[in-house]
Amino acid sequence: MATHSFFPANLAGMATHALFPTYVYTAALERAGSRELNRRLLAEALQLREDDAAGRRWSAANYPGGYTSYGSVHQLQRMSPTFELLRRRLSRHIKAFATTVEWDMEGKELAMTDCWVNIMARQVVHGLHLHPLSTLSGTYYVRVPRGSPGIKFEDPRLDRFMAAPPRKREARPENKPWITLPAVPGQVVLFESWLRHEVVPNPAAGERVSVSFNYNWF
Ligand code: NI
Repeated sequence: MATHSFFPANLAGMATHALFPTYVYTAALERAGSRELNRRLLAEALQLREDDAAGRRWSAANYPGGYTSYGSVHQLQRMSPTFELLRRRLSRHIKAFATTVEWDMEGKELAMTDCWVNIMARQVVHGLHLHPLSTLSGTYYVRVPRGSPGIKFEDPRLDRFMAAPPRKREARPENKPWITLPAVPGQVVLFESWLRHEVVPNPAAGERVSVSFNYNWF
């Protein structure tokens, strides 16, 4: 009988192996909840939008209807004790991801290189993109109005599918070409920086607020 296995030890047997996995990690940032941290992050994100004229100009050109500090204030962990606290609380999740993927970092550690805020009003969209020149990327959700979209990931092999048939509507999640993970306040999502992702237009009236970040090992 054919079996599904992740273990190459079974390569000699009759089996269908699921090889070359794409890892996406989700977890609550803190077991005790992040209400107080989120209150502070939200206040600072909204204040930053007020103060950051360069970022508002950058967003008007690159993120219509929304605000992001990606193009202006993109190392918030170095500027704000609140974002530095977020960085410290992310550490165990970053380590857990690196352990799962079994990266050999030759004694080096993953370090946060960039950290910025995103504020998505109604109808704002964040099109398909990846995070060049980074190793590990992720997002932490601060405020998510009811009905706001999650993060949608694309199968990185999509451009090689050629004559592959489409997948069944009821296919298992790991077999689908796109997967959307819900955005949940207090939750962190981590993925390798080459994995393309997007946020579809926000249909909710309220603003969806998140913090995104990049890590490098070199
Ligand atoms: Ni992104």
